[in-house]
Amino acid sequence: MNDVLITGADLAGQGRADLLIRDGRLVDPADAGVDVERMDADGLIALPGLVDLHTHLREPGREDAETHDSGTRAAARGGFTAVLAMANTTPVTDTAEAALHIAALGRQAGHAQVIPVGAVTKGLDGAELAELGLMARSAVQVRVFSDDGHCISDAGLMRRALEYIRAFDGVIAQHAQDPRLAGAHACCHEGEVSGRLGLPGWPPAAESTIVARDVQLAALTGSRVHVCHVSTAETVDVLRWAKARGVKITAEVTPHHLLLTTDEVLGYDPTFKVNPPLRPEEHVRALQDGLADGTIDAVATDHAPHARHDKQHAFAEAAFGMVGLESALAVVVETMVDTGRLSWSGVAQRTSVVPARIARLSGQGRPLSVGEPANVTLVDPTARAVVDADNTASLSRNNPWHGRELPDPVVATFWAGRQTYRR
Ligand code: DOR
Repeated sequence: MNDVLITGADLAGQGRADLLIRDGRLVDPADAGVDVERMDADGLIALPGLVDLHTHLREPGREDAETHDSGTRAAARGGFTAVLAMANTTPVTDTAEAALHIAALGRQAGHAQVIPVGAVTKGLDGAELAELGLMARSAVQVRVFSDDGHCISDAGLMRRALEYIRAFDGVIAQHAQDPRLAGAHACCHEGEVSGRLGLPGWPPAAESTIVARDVQLAALTGSRVHVCHVSTAETVDVLRWAKARGVKITAEVTPHHLLLTTDEVLGYDPTFKVNPPLRPEEHVRALQDGLADGTIDAVATDHAPHARHDKQHAFAEAAFGMVGLESALAVVVETMVDTGRLSWSGVAQRTSVVPARIARLSGQGRPLSVGEPANVTLVDPTARAVVDADNTASLSRNNPWHGRELPDPVVATFWAGRQTYRR
């Protein structure tokens, strides 16, 4: 592999500098040889490679929607050097063998680090704990456990899981949604739009009541809870209260919840059917404020690719979810940077440093200094483009940004010193 010298990049808060990549690491730029490959980064910003706490890769089981190859290619195009692969595959990632298999598929694909998330309960059935200890102590050392797509609604089971994972510094990433409040047929936010459209919805309280409960279980057990895809103002209030008391709770927000509102659903377009649902404007503002002040720790995509035949149905019958890896940073720039809510060093924190810390990844989210792994995302802060759902590495087209002009920030991605994407 050739050495790469990136010249004149703005290191998001650390000033301008050159970066020399050699053998997967950052080394002293003064050591650059004559045959070094040069990349002029004048006007560009260098971020530590992005880390996504919440990706659905669909392999094994639904390779028609996404594979490790297509999904990690999409990740690299989005500036990500690591993705946590959610456990709701077929079979479910609920054993050490399954977790090892996910990591191996990721290594074969080779476009980003793939870290398996372990299921909390066997088969995601919410009844019996999965092999948490065996997954944690396996060669892939699973640290993040989630039944994402399903809420661990049984408080006793959630308490036991939290007590168990404390021994290996794990974290439970909760899909906070009380099933009794959401109901089996709910498909959008409960409010004026759902009433007008005649669609069953679920209220914000279905989320925030579970988060309030889990805050208290985190305090009771001294264990770590992470809240997946926060979507309501009430949840942000609960998180703020919990953090002020020193409870070990972290949270993520998706790009789509930072920008899109319930109004997207007015046309019954199933592209905008997602779980948790798109919420009214006042919730979107609260999520942006929460991300700006650190109440929400991280941005995570909930990249949820679906085959056309699962998504192109009447709204009530379509699958939940939208793709998100390739446009995540674009939406963060649009909602948080270009509006003055977040600095570029804040972006580095929320998209790389903090997610790596939550997942206990030692080689990701590191400062761009000599000796560190060369995980680097180069960003053009001014470029814009119209999103085209067909211009993608993903196998799926359920893209809520299609036809919309957004920032087009990612210029190049380097994972462990290797260029995984270049525009
Ligand atoms: O919209 C969603 N889709 N939300 C989830 O929690 C799961 C995901 C999926 O797996 O498709």
